[in-house]
Amino acid sequence: KESRAMKFQRQHMDPGSYPTNDANYCNQMMRRREMTKGWCKPVNTFIHESVVDVQAVCLQGNVTCKNGQPNCHQSSSSMNITDCRLTSGSKYPNCVYRTSQKERHIIIACEGNPYVPVHFDASV
Ligand code: A3P
Repeated sequence: KESRAMKFQRQHMDPGSYPTNDANYCNQMMRRREMTKGWCKPVNTFIHESVVDVQAVCLQGNVTCKNGQPNCHQSSSSMNITDCRLTSGSKYPNCVYRTSQKERHIIIACEGNPYVPVHFDASV
């Protein structure tokens, strides 16, 4: 079974590709990373930084998550990310996304031992 840490890697990590404003990036990546199976995941962020750099965020500034849990961490540096947002007219199974490239501090939730990323909370 896929662990929560592995799910984070699948849904949020794309260290290989340089941030792109290619309009098709999100359409392709949301499908390739299996977030358009059964439904269209409405909002998702990909992080274009190394796995090591993103894992290190679990040791950086502790902040409260959107759901009130205390296990979120904000990156001390800004990171290259791409936000994917489902367009309003889009109907499953045709999931159509707007792609927007950003440079932001990321906020992620971490869990476990080792303490690793399991959820993308926000970017600021
Ligand atoms: P599910 O995977 O069970 O839906 P995301 O896709 O936004 O990165 O979230 C991954 C999972 O982490 C989601 O659960 C989400 O509900 C959960 N999550 C949200 N806030 C969390 C937190 N503070 N700590 C751990 N997990 C959290």
